[in-house]
Amino acid sequence: MDSPPIAGLRRWLVDAENAGAPHPWSAIFVTVSADGDPSARTVTLKRLDRDSLLFTSALWTRKVAELRANPKVAIAFHWPGLGRQTLIRGTASEGDRRLAGELFAERGLDHQLQAHVSRQGQVIDSLEPLRRRRLELIEELDGGPVPCPDGWGVVRVDPECVEFWEETPDRLHDRIEHWRVDGEWNIRRLAP
Ligand SMILES: Cc1cc2nc3c(=O)[nH]c(=O)nc-3n(C[C@H](O)[C@H](O)[C@H](O)COP(=O)(O)O)c2cc1C
Repeated sequence: MDSPPIAGLRRWLVDAENAGAPHPWSAIFVTVSADGDPSARTVTLKRLDRDSLLFTSALWTRKVAELRANPKVAIAFHWPGLGRQTLIRGTASEGDRRLAGELFAERGLDHQLQAHVSRQGQVIDSLEPLRRRRLELIEELDGGPVPCPDGWGVVRVDPECVEFWEETPDRLHDRIEHWRVDGEWNIRRLAP
């Protein structure tokens, strides 16, 4: 069974899907380096577990290097059409290899090829060598499945604090925060 904040997030994701929100499962993922420098990027959540959020990433990227050095992370979803945001603080870790393979197999072909031909984040002179390698790879695979690259993985975020924020016409917005103490989830209201 889902924990209370995961159940709430699942409901809001379904609402965003039903409302036709663009990229409803995409969110800003924030890491902080060992030196305390923050960095943010968009990721797309692939799954919700009972008490965690999961997305996939190449493992040589800045985000993974930073979460290995400092597992404290934040996530922000915003669905403007619904006047809602969900803000999460938690701890990140790497998921297991079997799940990485399973989620990689669910990616579209272009996404799978990109993971093989591009070392995301590396400084390059031009896209041309990557485009050539992509075409070569398509020929080599000859219509067969694209294997999950070694440096591909799953990031798991276990939330410690989850805020559900909803706009109201009088600007006295509804803010409900779930926070965890000794494994138990608590709930409180915050001033808008
Ligand atoms: C809508 C959208 C969804 C994205 N989803 C992912 C994702 O699920 N995983 C990922 O690694 N990068 C994703 N990206 C690319 C990242 O934003 C980022 O460019 C990349 O992961 C490198 O980030 P880093 O160098 O900070 O690690 C997405 C970008 C956009 C715009």
